[in-house]
Amino acid sequence: MKVLVVGGGGREHAICWKLAQSPKVTELLCAPGNAGIEAVARCVDTGAEDIEGIVSLAKEENIDLAVIGPEVPLAMGVTDRLEKAGIKTFGPNKKCSRLEASKSFTKEFLKRHNIPTAGYREFTCKEELLSSVGIFGYPMVLKADGLAAGKGVVIAENRAEAEKAIEEIMGERVFGSAGDKVVVEEFLTGVEASMLCFVDEKTIVPMESAQDYKRVFDGDKGPNTGGMGTYSPSLLFTPELEEQIRERILEPALKGFQEDGLDFKGVLFIGLMLTEEGPKVIEFNNRFGDPETQSVLPRLESDLLDIFVAVTENRLADVDISWKEDKAVCVVAASGGYPGSYEKNKVIGGLDRVDEDVMVFHAGTAKKDTAQLGCASLGKEGCPGEPHMATVTSGGRVLGVTAMGKTHEEARAKAYDNIKRIRFEGMQYRKDIGVINKL
Ligand code: AMP
Ligand code: GLY
Repeated sequence: MKVLVVGGGGREHAICWKLAQSPKVTELLCAPGNAGIEAVARCVDTGAEDIEGIVSLAKEENIDLAVIGPEVPLAMGVTDRLEKAGIKTFGPNKKCSRLEASKSFTKEFLKRHNIPTAGYREFTCKEELLSSVGIFGYPMVLKADGLAAGKGVVIAENRAEAEKAIEEIMGERVFGSAGDKVVVEEFLTGVEASMLCFVDEKTIVPMESAQDYKRVFDGDKGPNTGGMGTYSPSLLFTPELEEQIRERILEPALKGFQEDGLDFKGVLFIGLMLTEEGPKVIEFNNRFGDPETQSVLPRLESDLLDIFVAVTENRLADVDISWKEDKAVCVVAASGGYPGSYEKNKVIGGLDRVDEDVMVFHAGTAKKDTAQLGCASLGKEGCPGEPHMATVTSGGRVLGVTAMGKTHEEARAKAYDNIKRIRFEGMQYRKDIGVINKL
């Protein structure tokens, strides 16, 4: 089969890396891909949000299966467009993508189907919201309704912070129309965990669990990021908890999709808060998590292509999905300053010094001619004598280094031993990914 993966981050690198191992994949393309994905797929310079471009590419290349990585093209309806052009697509259609693209849509869904979640109210009028500040007490959870690249949630500790956030979201419109509506939620206390599931119209199958580290600094300090590392399986998931999640969340969600005519096919990513009253849903995403995927897919024994195709044909129940016993730890190397502003085009050194069985998933990387970069931007890697194509940083999260081991500790030691061999100016990474201290 000829497969096109849409996206160009660490998640898409992990998906391409796994698909490339399938004997059934005859050709693999990625749009737009990145400097690491190039090693396993033919990268095509079409942006993931260029829907027309993606559809034309898929038609011209006679793609048999398209796999959509990020949420934005899904919310824009890329699946509907590709399916209309006769191309099988893994990733939910526009209607179902509202489960990530609209917080209020998801809250209504959860409430209607009695799935445990935080109590909430929604507001479209700034004045009304300002007069309701503190309705659930503090901290006050405020969420821009639409997609905001993971930045649309504010946890305000007091009235002043809440008023400032409301002014930013509804007054200055920092998230644009994503902030036309704001959802205010009860603050949930507990430990967070994520669960990824394969879903078709008849079946929901949880993947192995993963634990994400969202804050930028060790000890969960500093601002939220897209994710600074993960480990899998998460030690928080006991068989009892898995059973509770299946009974109270997964089964009612699938039944809800069926009752509401939501023909969801793809990955449902459930953000959970494990509270004293049991697991509660914080959010739904409609795609693989990043960097959860980078520690989950290396543990998948089965052929990922078989699963993707089965989902698009509503045959998920027929595929046997098996996992490796080995544990995985993924540590993200980010640009200095991330998640705030950061510099790009720093030459990345030491990639050739990484062990063969360690996976370096590229997130924000590109290939650049060192002659064009100029010495000043090359950083400590220095100004190499002969101009050459170098791998450089091009995003906030740059690489995800994933190692496997018989135990979490073994995987963790190996991931850190290897990430130390990689260098770029300003490189930062958390030192406590996979340290099990939350139990
Ligand atoms: P979300 O984008 O909805 O996952 O929210 C981002 C982060 O905000 C979550 O990972 C939680 O840490 C936090 N958060 C969101 N909703 C709540 C809530 N109701 N109570 C406590 N923390 C929350
Ligand atoms: N790691 C969180 C996300 O992918 O949204």
